[in-house]
Amino acid sequence: MPAPAELVDRLARYGQEHVVRFWDELGELDRANLKREIDAIDWGQIDRLIDAFVRRADRVEFEMDFERIRPPRVERLPRTDAERSTRRIACEIGAAALSAGKVAVVLVAGGQGTRLGYDGPKGCYPIGAVSNASLFQIHAEKIAAVSRKFGKCVPLYMMTSPDNTNATEEFWRRNRYFGLEHVRIFEQGRLPAVDRESGKVLLADKGRIALSPSGHGGTLAALAAAGSDGRPSPLDEMARLGIDTIFYFQVDNPMVKIADPSFIGPHLQANAEASFKVIEKIQPDEKLGVVVEYDGGLRVIEYSDLPARLGEEREPDGSLRHWAGSIAVHLFERSFLERLAAASIELPFHRAVKKVQYIDEKGTLIVPDAPNAIKFESFIFDTLPLAERSVLVETDRSVEFEPLKNATGPDSPATVRARMTELFAGWLEGAGARVERSADGSIPFDIEISPLFALSASELKSKIEPGLVVNEPLYLK
Ligand code: UTP
Repeated sequence: MPAPAELVDRLARYGQEHVVRFWDELGELDRANLKREIDAIDWGQIDRLIDAFVRRADRVEFEMDFERIRPPRVERLPRTDAERSTRRIACEIGAAALSAGKVAVVLVAGGQGTRLGYDGPKGCYPIGAVSNASLFQIHAEKIAAVSRKFGKCVPLYMMTSPDNTNATEEFWRRNRYFGLEHVRIFEQGRLPAVDRESGKVLLADKGRIALSPSGHGGTLAALAAAGSDGRPSPLDEMARLGIDTIFYFQVDNPMVKIADPSFIGPHLQANAEASFKVIEKIQPDEKLGVVVEYDGGLRVIEYSDLPARLGEEREPDGSLRHWAGSIAVHLFERSFLERLAAASIELPFHRAVKKVQYIDEKGTLIVPDAPNAIKFESFIFDTLPLAERSVLVETDRSVEFEPLKNATGPDSPATVRARMTELFAGWLEGAGARVERSADGSIPFDIEISPLFALSASELKSKIEPGLVVNEPLYLK
């Protein structure tokens, strides 16, 4: 049976009718599934993206005069007593918002984690150096500890994508939501990958389009969309719960200070709509987007888009001129996201050239050994120029940033565990314990502290015996 004429016509309008090429070989279920995938795609939008990023090869993706970028104003790490006291006051304002139950957290976990190559959602990865606790567990324990500390539930909204929703839900169910009071999983959309030469949508197999999640910028639309089960959108639900401020973070950084009052404070003091945490970039080639000022507003430029000459520019003291690296920890006012959603603001798309398996016109599976496809993704940091007021708050990378991206090398399980062991050793030493280090200062065993035991160095102080000696793996929980 040939594909329904309506379907063929719809696809043919955009030169994509090959998507139903194998229709008569498919069974009922596969046909229904393929139709659902086709219906879920905005083909006009895909065609515009293909036009911009594939057909017009001369198009400059990044239309920006880089000569006009300037370093932005940042709340630097406090260095003087006066600055420390200012941060403390700000921190109290953040704490008051938490005690009033006005803060929710959004954890984005819809990515494919291809670089890590783990069989399952990245959040299930057992990263705890001693306990093997998953990334999800560590995040959940932090949320539980923050809720306990401020006496108010901090609701968790977690974004997944159709590729990992079921596995993520099952994991959280099996772990009884780690005891959290309010967890809602919401799903982002997907977009097709296209052949980088022809712009033809790729087929993963005869009845499936090669779809991938649309980037963490998809958070915006997903937060504003009503649940498929008839529930109000996450943003509407937050409004009903009295949530004003949303703390956004990504699944791969177990060091993130979730709902950190010393970040929420400056954001609220400035009446900001969107605020970003930044760290000082030390090397120009570090894979961090930089926040810059451009024409009076703020922007994040991906490390790969910043011309090398500007990325390497240094101040007289040797520090990088464009130093403010974004660690993907943000605060958004709910009203800001609602405003963007109501105006149907679409974040700009970026192109990613990737290896994507597909079937050719004969139905043979092709496993490319070089990037063959273009994926379209939008990024949450492109909300920054849309905010009327923003604050950039500097933090120290050694205490707050070590993402799990790769299976080996930088940003891998080994570096994450070592960085966390170092952090916890510092907390213990600050609390009067002695950690037996090797001659070169490294720690030859792992240390882990559950967020439920202590969320910070100062919390740990009252909880350990003076004179404690640590000379073997330790897990405090
Ligand atoms: P990355 O950009 O590191 O992508 O995502 P990834 O999918 O985790 O890993 P690779 O690139 O395939 O190796 C940063 C964060 O954004 C989330 C990820 O789950 C991670 O928390 N993300 C990414 C989404 O939620 N949706 C997306 O479409 C992409």
